[in-house]
Amino acid sequence: MANRFEYKNFDDKDNYIQQSGEVMAIRAFSGVPTACIRTYGCQQNVADSEKIKGMLSEMGFSFTENPEEADFILFNTCAVREHAEDRVFGNVGALKNIKRHRPSVIIGLCGCMMEQPHVTDRLYKSFPFVNLVFGTHSLQNFPKLFYNVITNGKRVYETGVDDKTVYEGIPTKRDGTFKGWLPIMYGCDNFCTYCIVPYTRGRERSRKFEDVVNEAREMIQSGYKEITLLGQNVNSYGKNLDEKVTFAQLLSAIDQIDGDYILRFMTSHPKDCSKELIDVIANSKHISTHLHLPFQSGNNRVLKAMNRHYTREKYLDIINYAKEKIPDVSLTSDIIVGFPGETYEEFLDTVSLIEEVEFTSLFTFIYSARPGTPAAEWDDPYTHEEKSKWFSELLAVQEEIAAKRCASMVGQKVKVLVEGKSDKDGVLTSRTSGNIIVDFEGDESLIGQFVYVEITQARNWILLGKLC
Ligand code: 5AD
Ligand code: SF4
Repeated sequence: MANRFEYKNFDDKDNYIQQSGEVMAIRAFSGVPTACIRTYGCQQNVADSEKIKGMLSEMGFSFTENPEEADFILFNTCAVREHAEDRVFGNVGALKNIKRHRPSVIIGLCGCMMEQPHVTDRLYKSFPFVNLVFGTHSLQNFPKLFYNVITNGKRVYETGVDDKTVYEGIPTKRDGTFKGWLPIMYGCDNFCTYCIVPYTRGRERSRKFEDVVNEAREMIQSGYKEITLLGQNVNSYGKNLDEKVTFAQLLSAIDQIDGDYILRFMTSHPKDCSKELIDVIANSKHISTHLHLPFQSGNNRVLKAMNRHYTREKYLDIINYAKEKIPDVSLTSDIIVGFPGETYEEFLDTVSLIEEVEFTSLFTFIYSARPGTPAAEWDDPYTHEEKSKWFSELLAVQEEIAAKRCASMVGQKVKVLVEGKSDKDGVLTSRTSGNIIVDFEGDESLIGQFVYVEITQARNWILLGKLC
């Protein structure tokens, strides 16, 4: 059930935003308080940070990238892969100095890592200067938790909350003015055996159809040119709602909204990716021709051990349908190399799948054991060194495919959304509907607009073009 979150009610004693805004101004900070929010990990975390920034904005905060000048420093953490965890601990350690020089600074941590008891235990014991810790289910409580930190000076920890409510109405301060994330659901029920997400983000719950469509409309009307619908598994959107709606219907409803915009979505799960969805994309006005469909492994035994609920054949079936129905479909995927017990021969099935599909680009990961997941308990006979070798082999194959794919686009005229300046003077960077980057010479005034460019050259996975 959706629960509307109203911030404007001054009489409500649980409304701490305005209250804490006042308290902060008087007690903790002079002038306009400043926050530095750092986000690690996936787009869902980026979207959560945008809500935290929205709440902080209502409290009167301004924002900085520099922790040295912030009154409040918050790291929104990721637990999906090991190096992310190491990095966060390193960065938190580095904040100790700031706290020593400016004891009034408030240091907070939130996000997926905070839903892992081994992490919060370590934080509590070894990082006493961290004032605020909250998990993924406590976003809506942030103003209250923050207020508690400011007013009672003790460390505030709120993790492990089991809350299935979908909170609506939390203010959002989007990072971009023409590209924006739009979460349509939270959590995941799939329990892939390597993945920590179902434990850190809880059970799958969808936002109401009407709420999502209305937010998309508001974004389009306020000038957003690219909207990306977000969820861990967008294809199962609606499963827990009373109304009988599918992701394909949601996409189709948003696509009907008038305006000049492109609609993207991620992430899709092959087991729930329906032909109905492909048909909606094929017949749409605004939906991008990019399909990010992570297959993880090309070997059926490994897929079963991963608990993915599809086979290589079923995956190829949906891919071939997409290729048939969507001209120029651009396919990307996530891949895990070195899942526990995966042999070299099994890994080669992943390579052959890549060759067969011809992906535009890939997000490739070496398996990393996540404590608390089933696969972390399994025998993992191959060394990291061996897995790294396989990994490089895979990258070399993909590089050739991507280069070939990009080269085949030379001479085409494509519509792109101009995203910003590239590193080179006078050169802009833009993105095609298929999510391929095109750099071209042009004036900065084009940033945030759709233009047509002719592809003149291919540089591996980046294209060069000229304005038409
Ligand atoms: N090890 C390596 N990669 C992982 N992913 C998720 N969990 C792990 C893990 N334990 C990858 C998957 C997923 C992407 C977001 O991260 O490929 O699709
Ligand atoms: Fe993790 Fe699998 Fe859920 Fe994706 S679908 S978030 S990989 S459990």
